[in-house]
Amino acid sequence: MDLWRFRRGRELAIDLGTANTLVFVRGEGIAVFEPSVVAIDERTQEVQAVGEAARRMIGRTPATIRAIRPLRHGVIADFDVTAEMLRYFIRRVGGGGLSFSRVVLCVPSGITDVEREAVEDATLAAGARSVALIEEPMAAAIGAGLPVGEPQGSMIVDIGGGTTEVAVLSLGGIVVWESIRVGGYELDEAIVRHVDTSARLLIGSETAESAKISCGSAWPLAEEIETDVAGRDRVTGLLRRTTITSEEVRAATAQPVGTIVETVKRTLESTPPELAADISSRGIVLAGGGALLRGIRHVFAELRAQDRKLAKARRSNVFVPHLANRLTDVRSSGREAVRVHVDLIEADSTAALPSAAAAPPI
Ligand SMILES: Nc1ncnc2c1ncn2[C@@H]1O[C@H](COP(=O)(O)OP(=O)(O)OP(=O)(O)O)[C@@H](O)[C@H]1O
Ligand SMILES: [Mg+2]
Repeated sequence: MDLWRFRRGRELAIDLGTANTLVFVRGEGIAVFEPSVVAIDERTQEVQAVGEAARRMIGRTPATIRAIRPLRHGVIADFDVTAEMLRYFIRRVGGGGLSFSRVVLCVPSGITDVEREAVEDATLAAGARSVALIEEPMAAAIGAGLPVGEPQGSMIVDIGGGTTEVAVLSLGGIVVWESIRVGGYELDEAIVRHVDTSARLLIGSETAESAKISCGSAWPLAEEIETDVAGRDRVTGLLRRTTITSEEVRAATAQPVGTIVETVKRTLESTPPELAADISSRGIVLAGGGALLRGIRHVFAELRAQDRKLAKARRSNVFVPHLANRLTDVRSSGREAVRVHVDLIEADSTAALPSAAAAPPI
């Protein structure tokens, strides 16, 4: 056994997301990638299941068991349940109890001091010896291999479950950012509403999410697809199925997708010209589960085209970044980011972390 490693404790990096939690263990890789869900017995307050097992219980639990997502829009909504969940995951990778693990935790860029303290406390309560925080866009950028330490602008658009974060990074800090409470869940809700009005069928949000993943798209597909959804008939109350097409889903989700695009546009407008020029030539990088939505990159390309027209119409020298020059889906790189975090805590504590926290929010 590697005694030295044992004495130093395990080094973990955790992406505590609204939808999914990832735990990376130095030397081993991604050890946990599970939904951020905890099932609790209401009578005894005992944890019945965590992660995937708990997610399967959502909407299907007996009256006494409640499946909870302890985070909302990237921040802790239920402290105790979050600490329980972290404890479970940390133990599962062998980092609990006497192992004195050191943890790097990803947090949304806009969180308040109180929220910061809450996640730190939850991680310490879960058995970590020390915890360092890193902003999610910074983590994603490092993971995507962007030159975050250099005087060069990089743009990250992280579309998660509960939030979308758009950030421009340079010199190890976040220069401009915007975070909105619109993410994948908003798309699911839009699908629920659509099926309700068009087919008078009530479907659950998990069903809507599956439909989004199997036939959702942000851009017309070469071959449109369809999928079946099951729910309860609004009129008869009986179970029924219906088929929805990718066109329908696209129309239903157009509004939240549009909100995300608008946010990217606004962020670019407030980006200093030099950095915007860098982004123009390097493109923007998409991260998070929402980046997997079919055709999302084309939406950003369209935005570029619109912007050009807009700039022309105004006859101004408004800088128009060439947005879609190089869009990259970096879902897997997002995980890679977690690996880099661990490298950052190499020697000791937080010293080597990029000081994203110190960057002034705009
Ligand atoms: N193939 C896909 N197409 C569209 N959306 C997808 C796909 N796969 C996953 N998603 C969506 O991605 C979201 C989860 O992304 P992610 O795991 O990055 O969120 P998170 O980091 O937990 O959330 P947050 O960053 O808001 O705290 C969910 O809304 C999920 O439905
Ligand atoms: Mg996330």
